[in-house]
Amino acid sequence: MQTPIIQLTDVGAAYNRGRERVVALKNVSLTINRGEIFGLLGPNGAGKTTLLSIVEGLLRPERGAATVDGIDVLTHPTDAKQLLGIQLQRSALLDDLTAAELVRLYAALYEVDLSAAQATELLGRFGLSDKARVYARRLSGGQQQRLALAVAVANDPRIVLLDEPTSALDPRARREVWDMIRQLHDEGRTIVLTTHSMEEAEALCGRVAIIDAGRIVACDTPASLVGNLGAAPMLKTALELPIDAVRPLPGVRAVRYTGQHLEVETTEPQLTLAALQQMATDRGRIIGEVTVRPPNLEDVFLKLTGRSLN
Ligand SMILES: Nc1ncnc2c1ncn2[C@@H]1O[C@H](COP(=O)(O)OP(=O)(O)O)[C@@H](O)[C@H]1O
Ligand SMILES: [Mg+2]
Repeated sequence: MQTPIIQLTDVGAAYNRGRERVVALKNVSLTINRGEIFGLLGPNGAGKTTLLSIVEGLLRPERGAATVDGIDVLTHPTDAKQLLGIQLQRSALLDDLTAAELVRLYAALYEVDLSAAQATELLGRFGLSDKARVYARRLSGGQQQRLALAVAVANDPRIVLLDEPTSALDPRARREVWDMIRQLHDEGRTIVLTTHSMEEAEALCGRVAIIDAGRIVACDTPASLVGNLGAAPMLKTALELPIDAVRPLPGVRAVRYTGQHLEVETTEPQLTLAALQQMATDRGRIIGEVTVRPPNLEDVFLKLTGRSLN
């Protein structure tokens, strides 16, 4: 039995930029259930941060309703906030405070009194036990993001909202943060995260809402989103051939270029590859590295919006 824990109904939001009115969300309705890792996947400017800001009670929507565990965030923002842990933007940590001081400060904002020992214990859960007395600005990018997670759960919240928790991290630091997000989830918390990375959404999220230009264009499990696309595998290689020549080859359903790469959606990768090889040879060219991958969320985004995610 699924219990809704965050609900948005027909939410509209806009900002004033000088005389201009920038519409950031249009008629967004969304239900996130207790215990999910739920992802908001979309490119820069899609409205992800705006959506979180509304749930956090930091931005008032123009229209619609938002509740957290049944509490209306517009009429009872303080009660709603008690249930939430919020990940800070990285830059906000760059104060002259140590890791332990930051954790205790943020706990105190929620009227939770952490001792120095408790703060160190909490930091230890995020692999930062030896960093308690280190200034936040002296930590590496990955350590800062893990500190941001520790700060987000300093008040032991049931719901944790993470805004792009791994952007700008190298692959290894990113995986470490993923493991810690999974750990927070294993402790029974509901996690909502925003990302523009389809790998991140596929790696972490039970369900994903794809958001583009202020609208939610699809919402489901990654497997269903990809499955409903009915797409064939993608064959990718660095080879320049006219699209019109590739389209009639056996198995080919669609052809496009992404950067230097020819991407061919094909039901018969072997046959298509053989034909591409022949075509390349006829033109005195050699095919470089070839990869074949199953369809993914990037393809879903492209199909739904006509644009690529990044
Ligand atoms: N403080 C602001 N003032 C004016 N426009 C804003 C502000 N914050 C966001 N926007 C605009 O609202 C839209 C959605 O932004 P945002 O929610 O930050 O998207 P995302 O987090 O998906 O990158 C964008 O067009 C952005 O330029
Ligand atoms: Mg954002």
